[in-house]
Amino acid sequence: MRETVASAPGKVNLVLRSGAPAADGYHPLTTVFEAVSLREYVVARTRKKPGVGVRTLAYTLPATGEGEPRLNEELTRDLRALTEQEHLAAKAGRALAPLVAAKWGPSAAGLELTVHKTIPVAGGMAGGSADAAAALVAINALWELGLTGEQLEILGRTLGADVPACLRGGWSVGEERGDHLTTLADPGEKPSHWWALAFFEEGLSTPAVFARFDQMELGQVALPEASQYTDQAGSYTGPQVASLLQNDLAPAAIRLRPEIQEVGQAAIGAGAQAWMVSGSGPTVAALADTRQEAVKIAESWLENAAGGGPKLRETAVAWGADAGARVETVPPKWIQTAR
Ligand code: C5P
Repeated sequence: MRETVASAPGKVNLVLRSGAPAADGYHPLTTVFEAVSLREYVVARTRKKPGVGVRTLAYTLPATGEGEPRLNEELTRDLRALTEQEHLAAKAGRALAPLVAAKWGPSAAGLELTVHKTIPVAGGMAGGSADAAAALVAINALWELGLTGEQLEILGRTLGADVPACLRGGWSVGEERGDHLTTLADPGEKPSHWWALAFFEEGLSTPAVFARFDQMELGQVALPEASQYTDQAGSYTGPQVASLLQNDLAPAAIRLRPEIQEVGQAAIGAGAQAWMVSGSGPTVAALADTRQEAVKIAESWLENAAGGGPKLRETAVAWGADAGARVETVPPKWIQTAR
């Protein structure tokens, strides 16, 4: 048995502009992605049995970013309902299977994927897409397929609209379904800004948020060109991004989950420079200059929840922009202990 470990980042959308749906039902987007430091880890192993197997272990993050994620048995049990058919990591495995067979012969062994999840399911942070991105990179290395980043993005696009952004990392502008990318900036050596993240007990389904968006007739008639963002790349990649945050899906997500507004306003009360709904929500992302400020916001959310405010599943602290999907030659200890 051989194994490879890879990881991929989740994302927030600093800007998400959406038009009305096209004939195929998808909404045309212009969106600015920032990869954040919450990462999914996928362990890919060869196995004798043909086909692709997948299991998922879910983790609770340290509420203020200090310490290691802990295995969450309840959430892990809930995720058993996610079948191999639906799991984006397994889809990534099946998408690469013909290439494995072409290189190693039709009798090449099967694949076992273990997904270590830290990004909430249905939270608007591309957790499922990060699983697919990490799986693509892990399998590419495990079977020595030699696919380039560009080839992985082309494949990734067929699995989910956010997969290319999770593969690439840093800051990028997405067009069409958000899956055709132009790089704004590569991730720097150190965090450019910090996020306090509030995760609700229940997620929101992306199609449900888009359906409400359509009902509210929020679609833009004309979408901005990617060049509008690439021309001012520096404005999005520094700590001064606060005034530029914009999410057309936010009113629809808030209509479906009014507590989002309350959590966002509480963040401002605790010193956040700005807050936004992450993607299709319901995760609230509050912007801070420093880690300490982000921790303060996360702590105030927990105090509010304890005092009868909106109930949260958990809070986390993250920074951006992080690197794209990559092989982990020295995987974190918390993954090894869970294997
Ligand atoms: O691409 P992904 O599988 O993440 O999208 C989930 C669903 O969200 C789609 O089936 C579609 O209903 C909706 N969606 C959309 N327009 C987009 C992205 C997603 O309508 N640009």
